[in-house]
Amino acid sequence: MTVPKSSLALPVPTVTICLVLLHSCSAQLRAQLGTTPNIKQIVVGRCYNYITLINPRLRCDCEAIWRQFEEAVMRQSSCNVTMEDYHDMFNAVPQSWPCDRVSRNETSNSQFLFWSKTRTLMHSYAAVVRDVWTLEDTLVGYMFNDLIWCGQEDDSGFDFSSCPEWSASRHHPVYSLWRQASQNFAEMACGNITVLLNGSIVNAFSRKSMFGSVELDGLNPQRVDYVNIKVVTNLEGPHLESCSQGSIVDLLQLLQSRGFRWTCSDNDQTLMILQCIQDPQQSSCQTCGNSLLDRKGLLSVEDSVGSGEVQ
Ligand SMILES: *[C@@H]1O[C@H](CO)[C@@H](O)[C@H](O)[C@H]1NC(C)=O
Ligand SMILES: *[C@@H]1O[C@H](CO)[C@@H](O)[C@H](O)[C@H]1NC(C)=O
Ligand SMILES: *[C@@H]1O[C@H](CO)[C@@H](O)[C@H](O)[C@H]1NC(C)=O
Repeated sequence: MTVPKSSLALPVPTVTICLVLLHSCSAQLRAQLGTTPNIKQIVVGRCYNYITLINPRLRCDCEAIWRQFEEAVMRQSSCNVTMEDYHDMFNAVPQSWPCDRVSRNETSNSQFLFWSKTRTLMHSYAAVVRDVWTLEDTLVGYMFNDLIWCGQEDDSGFDFSSCPEWSASRHHPVYSLWRQASQNFAEMACGNITVLLNGSIVNAFSRKSMFGSVELDGLNPQRVDYVNIKVVTNLEGPHLESCSQGSIVDLLQLLQSRGFRWTCSDNDQTLMILQCIQDPQQSSCQTCGNSLLDRKGLLSVEDSVGSGEVQ
């Protein structure tokens, strides 16, 4: 649904109706794409793919998960689906986590990966570093990755023509599902976790981001050995934040006060090499390339600023 610009010029009763709609669903003014076409086939298909090929140990009823999902979205108007509305759906999803499957010692290589405003680089990183777990590797994350959905005001199914913008409402159906999935993911995290933050923006660590508002609070210092933060800037800059500058300092203090052990590095060599592969002409990559030939030079690229120990 879109509200025509001319609506303010319409007679009073119509304006009232428009305002009521605007009130309950103001986000639709700036509506974007509607529900992803064939969403049911995609979600159910991905579910079967996951439990058949990716993690055959997982047992679950993909059709049942879909039914619970549909019910959660249909139960409410398109802009008003809460995390709680998805609880039945999440209950139908079996949890399978690296730390539950094997003992701590055997998980030495697996790490949970969190990120904020570094999505593209996170994907390259997860592709090259072994045994990295991201939200998208969980069943729910895998099933709903990159999809859009919302119901209709008159609850007659999904709205395939337009959905409110994701950021417009706290109870956006897509946002609420990811909040719940992120919270579950963080609560289950164990061993070493890695956090990729973007040092080229102000507030690299933001309490409004999914990491700052949901995941950080879900992490359990009893289960997590180390929080290893990697701050990464664009090769061409700007270099706004670092382990010793800006909002990341607040994050480190917060971790410290909650009893986490942490490290923070500004120039992780793996990340830098990944960036250089995508953009080898950058001047900082010339240095990087040279130091690759020279072990000592390579090590000097890695510049760990500090770490915190809590005894
Ligand atoms: C949104 O949902 C909540 C709980 O499901 C309900 O209490 C509230 O009235 C709803 N708000 C709107 C605008 O529909
Ligand atoms: C966990 O992180 C700490 C700090 O970076 C590191 O010393 C340790 O080797 C890591 N452990 C594993 C199992 O990767
Ligand atoms: C940092 O954020 C900016 C703005 O969102 C983005 O263009 C850039 O690619 C990000 N950098 C990294 C290294 O992810």
